[in-house]
Amino acid sequence: MELKSILEKTHFNIEEIEHLLSLNDEDAQLLFQKAHEVRLQEIGNKVYMRGLIELSNHCMKDCFYCGIRRSNHTIDRYVMTDEEVYAAAEYAYKNNFGSIVIQGGELSSPAWVERIERLIRGIKQIGDKSLGITLSLGEQEEETYRRWFEAGSHRYLLRIETSDQELFHQIHPVDGYHTYERRLECLYTLKKIGYQVGTGVMIGLPGQTIRSLARDLLFMKEFDIDMCGMGPYIEHKNTPMYQRKHELLPPYERFMLSIKMVACLRLLMRDINIAATTAMETLHPSGRLMAFKAGANIVMPNITPEKYHDKYWLYENKAGSKQQIELLKIRITQEIYKAGLEPGFGQWGDSKHFQKRQQTH
Ligand code: 5AD
Repeated sequence: MELKSILEKTHFNIEEIEHLLSLNDEDAQLLFQKAHEVRLQEIGNKVYMRGLIELSNHCMKDCFYCGIRRSNHTIDRYVMTDEEVYAAAEYAYKNNFGSIVIQGGELSSPAWVERIERLIRGIKQIGDKSLGITLSLGEQEEETYRRWFEAGSHRYLLRIETSDQELFHQIHPVDGYHTYERRLECLYTLKKIGYQVGTGVMIGLPGQTIRSLARDLLFMKEFDIDMCGMGPYIEHKNTPMYQRKHELLPPYERFMLSIKMVACLRLLMRDINIAATTAMETLHPSGRLMAFKAGANIVMPNITPEKYHDKYWLYENKAGSKQQIELLKIRITQEIYKAGLEPGFGQWGDSKHFQKRQQTH
């Protein structure tokens, strides 16, 4: 296959995607350049910020890979107070981030649902009432999604983790609470309600193949997502999947594969929002910068109070855990300029893809 001719395409078959994901470092540079061009052409040079609030690490799910899984009894559990959440949101507003993301372990009690609704309404009153709100709070009932939407959140992230059903069921317990069908159903419900919908996968899971990753990209295209957050799988000692550590690609290769996934997705879905994720930064010191240069247009600086950072360890050595929020902001801004791009301060930075999707309805 001729790389240059593949890169000129706008539609890709699975073999072509596999070819791109298998490129060596040198050829991958051409893929990254192409993804960067497509991004400039389709959505411009802005990188939008979302202040990330890690609301709580309590979780009723028990995913085999995740450090905050229900059965990990070695961690301290926390929930941020209302005051802390509002202070973080104020910080995002004052620093002109434009939007926040509220992320947390999965809970669904009536009290929790109500609290989130109240927090969304409260955040919507901050400053000139312009902060955008993305939620990432797992699988919920349709009614819950609706309440949170009506309260003022407008984007939702729910990773499919892998579109390979067999692999999905290998990395989650078979206990009735973790099914592929339910995850997919939630994604459809979110779309129906009117959210901008984001999904994503983990890259380099034990047992995952290049073909499976290529299928993940086609899945995102077919589902017609608006946003994507994906990153390398990173092992965590206190999780069952740690047993399969020896099967993993070395960190650098897992990292490069993740950047190639970002770049390929940019070629497949030219106008969606794609995040440079924390897991990329964790595996490589220039992870974020490289993601910006390969098509990513979203960054989510962590604005959770520092005292909680050590407790939200989804995986080991999570990047930025000890970084002061102020320093992080400066560093990210520098990286954006270094990539030849500009920070999109004070704007929601909605997915262009979503806007077009609305117009055609
Ligand atoms: N490595 C990488 N990503 C992880 N996540 C959870 N655990 C890990 C891990 N060990 C990701 C999942 C989840 C998101 C909140 O964090 O994709 O959806």
